[in-house]
Amino acid sequence: MRTLIRGGTVVNPTGPQPADVLIDGETVAGVLSPAVAAELTADEVIDAAGCYVIPGGVDAHTHMQMPFGGTTASDTFETGTAAAAWGGTTTIIDFAIQTPGEVVPECLERWHAKAAGACAIDYAFHMILGGVDDESLKAMDALIDHEGVSSFKLFMAYPGVYYSDDGQILRAMQQAAGNGAVIMMHAENGIAIDVLAAQAVARGETAPLYHGLTRPAALEAEATHRAIALAEVAGGTPLYVVHMSASEALAEVSAARSRGANVFAETCPQYLYLTLEDQLGARGPDGDSFEGAKWVCSTPLRSKHEPHARDLWRGLRTDDLAVVSTDHCPFCFKDQKELGRGDFRKIPNGIGGVEHRMQLIYQGVADGQLSLARWVETCATTPARMFGLYPRKGVIAPGADADVVVYDPAGRTTLSAATHHMNMDYSAYEGFEVAGSVRTVLSRGSRVIDGGRFLGRAGHGQYVPRGLSSYLR
Ligand code: URP
Ligand code: ZN
Ligand code: ZN
Repeated sequence: MRTLIRGGTVVNPTGPQPADVLIDGETVAGVLSPAVAAELTADEVIDAAGCYVIPGGVDAHTHMQMPFGGTTASDTFETGTAAAAWGGTTTIIDFAIQTPGEVVPECLERWHAKAAGACAIDYAFHMILGGVDDESLKAMDALIDHEGVSSFKLFMAYPGVYYSDDGQILRAMQQAAGNGAVIMMHAENGIAIDVLAAQAVARGETAPLYHGLTRPAALEAEATHRAIALAEVAGGTPLYVVHMSASEALAEVSAARSRGANVFAETCPQYLYLTLEDQLGARGPDGDSFEGAKWVCSTPLRSKHEPHARDLWRGLRTDDLAVVSTDHCPFCFKDQKELGRGDFRKIPNGIGGVEHRMQLIYQGVADGQLSLARWVETCATTPARMFGLYPRKGVIAPGADADVVVYDPAGRTTLSAATHHMNMDYSAYEGFEVAGSVRTVLSRGSRVIDGGRFLGRAGHGQYVPRGLSSYLR
């Protein structure tokens, strides 16, 4: 079947151009000048007049149905990928998890079993290594060679859960330097944070706000610095620091990049738009400060009195921040966030946002923070290139998968738990009004979203084995 998307402005990382997009089956057949396309016939025509036509978003950091903090993230692969599609994301890279003592390939199989037949859009996996040892290091090679998993996340936080010490981190980075993997790093000094958190609880400071206050920016910056040093000692492998929230951590990345280190970082919409004061100000109808649990995530939200958000936007402009992901890790307030009443350490960490990333970052375009090209680059093209999905994903060009979003800049969208499609009983962005609306979403040529209707199906989304990163040296 041939589909023609007619009359829109195609936005690739090279910038916007008036063009029509011809799709043949599941792939893009051509990006054509309107004069040339006028001669063509197609089985279906999508009118994109007045709209941007962009590559489907690639969200490189999600946690569907992740077991965490004594509960499980509330979006399944089915609900989470449908919600992603509603917001113009057509590929997710989720995290399979190895906890200490588990066999890595068996863990990957478990995640395949969760996702298979459930996804509305295409998906891939990173692997979290919770137990770096001889066996798991060897498994890295096998996952790259045979399973299409070419990136591995390590944690400097969460001692006793996913934490790796510096020796384990160095060994994994050395292995990656040999096999071409990207090392993703949760960079917070978890040992020091646990001391601060225990001291806070002993003082009776148990409310959600103290989650953020016991994770100071200095401990994100320190861990980021240490991760960069270890990566440079290991030699060669790209280091990708996840969910960056602090100016001080970004400064470490900027300094490393200026001296030529192969270091990258992502941030997430919550750090660009939400602050610690949202937690402080969150009082339920009964004055319950536990409402702040809705915004508990790690790294934490930072204070609006410091220049973090301003610096993160600047980092996105200068490419010191390469990618915007969501770190979508949703928990309902009722029965899930509530596990931490009386002790903030027991609040499951995470914010849901897979549905809203493309629109929240488009709001940055409307606000003059980013160009259209940079919107597409940070949300689709660079994540695809970083994680070995390019040029199949992240660009509208002949031969690419026909993952395409028709985005209406004249629309407005209000974010709310009453209207979102994520399986969450609240929205961290309740009442936010953002510029633009998602009109049509195609996943490999099939309409998933159109005119406010979901036309997709669980099982349409396929596993996409990934190659090596485009950022290997
Ligand atoms: O709070 C967060 N980020 N939860 C998800 C797990 C992680 O560290 O990415
Ligand atoms: Zn993390
Ligand atoms: Zn995460």
